[in-house]
Amino acid sequence: MKPIILGEKIMAKAETKKEDAVVEDIIPEKGKKTKKKGKKEQNFLDTVSGIGPTTRKRLEEAGFGSKEAIALATRSQLSDISGIAEKTANVLIREARSQFDLGLKPGSHYAKLGETRQYLTTSSQAFDELLGGGFETGSITEIAGENGCGKTQISHQLAVNCVKNGKDVVWIDTEGTFRFTRISQMAKALNLDTDEILSHITVGRAFNSEHQMALTEEALTMVPNVGLIIVDSLMAHFRSEFAGRSTLAERQQLIGKYLAFISKQSEIMNCVAVVTNQVSAKPDAMFFGDPNKPIGGNVVGHTVTTRLMIRKGKDVKRTATLTKNPELPDGKIEFSIDTDGIRDYSGK
Ligand SMILES: Nc1ncnc2c1ncn2[C@@H]1O[C@H](COP(=O)(O)OP(=O)(O)OP(=O)(O)O)[C@@H](O)[C@H]1O
Ligand SMILES: [Mg+2]
Repeated sequence: MKPIILGEKIMAKAETKKEDAVVEDIIPEKGKKTKKKGKKEQNFLDTVSGIGPTTRKRLEEAGFGSKEAIALATRSQLSDISGIAEKTANVLIREARSQFDLGLKPGSHYAKLGETRQYLTTSSQAFDELLGGGFETGSITEIAGENGCGKTQISHQLAVNCVKNGKDVVWIDTEGTFRFTRISQMAKALNLDTDEILSHITVGRAFNSEHQMALTEEALTMVPNVGLIIVDSLMAHFRSEFAGRSTLAERQQLIGKYLAFISKQSEIMNCVAVVTNQVSAKPDAMFFGDPNKPIGGNVVGHTVTTRLMIRKGKDVKRTATLTKNPELPDGKIEFSIDTDGIRDYSGK
């Protein structure tokens, strides 16, 4: 079996239609989901009493068609953007949050959460140790670094290792760099069946930022047993679509909302969430410290729980530096990327 290519399916379908219909199919309208497969779940808005068709339409058009989006919204966001009364917004938010258990909890609850946390191996012992055991479930880990440092390679390795553990992978591909050949090489190196691995990876090829957000939501609702969500890369579309200063605030707001959704989903599903990120050269830092800084500003920096910087060395050698985690010391290790995938670096 080949992986389900959500984005390409939508694209293929669109290509058979008239040109104006292509845009409509590839870019889902705000709040309007692309068609789902399988059994139909009752829409959250239908379960809340007092929500009439006009309010429902306003909410859906403003991008608040799901309980996830509503649970993570603020009252003013919900009423300002969709134009509904603040009282109604309050009811909706309270109801959506109650379904996710987002209320106050005793500290002991977090001890239990810590117990359910799991770690996904990178296939390099040194790399796993840097991360306290591997990529952790329940929060976002960012992998940042310059072109060719290995962000997509690490993502492929994590995908193979996740399926090996019996879980499914959702891969949001914004740059068209998911490669079944790499999955195959890495699977073979671990004596795994490539087709079996591929059948548990759902790839959404995203053609713009709005499509990226819609596909993420769709995939996370559709795939039942998610152990890993990868967004490779987080910022590529946002960066090119929101180029000027005037659109920066809007861009940051969208990214914040998108990352909050992924973060919450990773907590609810207890899965690993990985976003890869590009870096921009800081010209004034040429002589002082690290000249490379992940893009996306404070919104990305604050929202990700773990930040990893990857550097390219000679041949297969790479370094990974942990620069942010709430409970681990910063640190740096060496690892390698070869045909088999990610491994400990054994050279000098
Ligand atoms: N089959 C392979 N065998 C060995 N090394 C490989 C193989 N495929 C890729 N690589 C290594 O991985 C590098 C590419 O890494 P990768 O695509 O993960 O970079 P990236 O950080 O995602 O870059 P970008 O920012 O452009 O997306 C290649 O330059 C090469 O060093
Ligand atoms: Mg890449």
